[in-house]
Amino acid sequence: MSLNEILIDELRDLYSAENQLVKALPKVVKGISNAEMKQNVKDHLEVTKGQVLRLREVFGHIGKKPTGKHCDGMEGCIKEVTEALEQDYEGALKDACITGAALRVEHYEIAGYTAAIAMAKALGMKEVTDLLNESLKEETLAAKNVTSGSKPVLKQAATQEEDETDEEHEEEEEKDPEEQKSEQESEEDEKEAASDVGGAKPPKKAAKKK
Ligand SMILES: [Fe+2]
Ligand SMILES: [Fe+2]
Repeated sequence: MSLNEILIDELRDLYSAENQLVKALPKVVKGISNAEMKQNVKDHLEVTKGQVLRLREVFGHIGKKPTGKHCDGMEGCIKEVTEALEQDYEGALKDACITGAALRVEHYEIAGYTAAIAMAKALGMKEVTDLLNESLKEETLAAKNVTSGSKPVLKQAATQEEDETDEEHEEEEEKDPEEQKSEQESEEDEKEAASDVGGAKPPKKAAKKK
């Protein structure tokens, strides 16, 4: 396996991720209540379509076909967005649920493009690097927009939450099988990591790079 092949793999992964998003984002737009957040995702859907075309252009330079790999990571990220959309909350609280999932999507893409750019640079592929950099800039802006767009929503959700908590005390909701499975798996994650994490106190500050 050569670095060129690893890059092609990364790019196919990104191509699948962007295509999955073109399919998923219209549902996200529908599910968001806040006008600014809604518009941001709507705009980013158009940007995403352009990124699919840009990746085709990248593959044109390389002389390979863009399909060939399904991106499992993005499938997982979209699953989390879908779960957020299915939450029984309304208005600002639902938008608040979407915030974390949407930010994960953008940062997943940022990671993919950053890695692919580093590889293309190492291989001296100037046109490919420039094209990928355009998409990376768009993803970085999208992540910033998620953060800034969610600020008023989170402020509103902070007051909405108090009402919901009151209701929650009155009737303890039953967990559905999916939630039960998720809870069980998270407990298993903790158990499996426990001996490696140890019982020490968390570090006060992140260690500085020497
Ligand atoms: Fe994208
Ligand atoms: Fe994106």
